[in-house]
Amino acid sequence: MGRLEALLDALDRGEPGCLALEGEAGIGKTRLLAELRERALSRGHVVLAGAASEFERDLPFSAWVDALDAYVASHALSSAPEWDAELGRELGLVLPAVRGRDGGGAVPDERYRTHRAVGRLLAIVAAERPLVLVLDDLHWSDDGSLELIAALVGRPPPAPVLLALAARPGAASDRLAAALTGPDAVLLRLEELSRGEAAELLAQAAGADVGALFELAGGNPFFLEQLGRAGADASMAAGDGTGLAGVPAYTAWPLTSGPWRRPGR
Ligand SMILES: Nc1ncnc2c1ncn2[C@@H]1O[C@H](COP(=O)(O)OP(=O)(O)OP(=O)(O)O)[C@@H](O)[C@H]1O
Ligand SMILES: [Mg+2]
Repeated sequence: MGRLEALLDALDRGEPGCLALEGEAGIGKTRLLAELRERALSRGHVVLAGAASEFERDLPFSAWVDALDAYVASHALSSAPEWDAELGRELGLVLPAVRGRDGGGAVPDERYRTHRAVGRLLAIVAAERPLVLVLDDLHWSDDGSLELIAALVGRPPPAPVLLALAARPGAASDRLAAALTGPDAVLLRLEELSRGEAAELLAQAAGADVGALFELAGGNPFFLEQLGRAGADASMAAGDGTGLAGVPAYTAWPLTSGPWRRPGR
């Protein structure tokens, strides 16, 4: 939270930044982004959020469209003095709200112009108040979205814009980590909760056997919460494989690495 507040402080001073969260499913990326969003809103920042989706992996720029399209459609941004025909044309390649009749997918040699156009758009949105742009679930994002992020991190818009990103470990998060150079970029790898933190999280789950749950969930808050609600008992810890009402079978959980009970770190 200290790192997040520092990024918001920088934003208040007019400085752009980038935050990337990496961590396995259920570790708390979206939860932490929610905290960031709330704190940014209470400072009066503009907060726009979108997420890539498992079922829209082939849609170009889907997380960006999710975050920006409705906002652009509902605000008369094209009447801003910085808006010109070229910007509209380039943005049309990304955002349906701006798409003209000739709009289509970006071809490779146009991409840098598209990247610049999105940077200009973000600067227009952030002209009055700092902008926090949240893009979640980027492990499902398309290549174009990741390229756009890398371009904007490398060449931040001249405006207080904080890109806040999250992805599970994998190819996308590796690309994000590689793009995150420079003093304004922060990469946080979220780790499992300690036993003490798990006990704190489970404090509300009456009668929860924290030891057994921790054995099972290994400090993953999502699993701890689910198992805590379902009232896991020692027979589960022994792994009798009978399953637990209300909790999906672990083989169906979209973990990106290893068995769900990971070796201790
Ligand atoms: N530090 C925390 N303290 C309390 N609850 C937490 C914490 N981190 C996560 N949780 C809870 O654990 C659950 C899973 O967290 P979250 O949805 O943020 O995971 P995620 O990393 O975004 O996973 P995914 O990759 O599947 O999107 C949520 O119910 C969230 O409220
Ligand atoms: Mg999430």
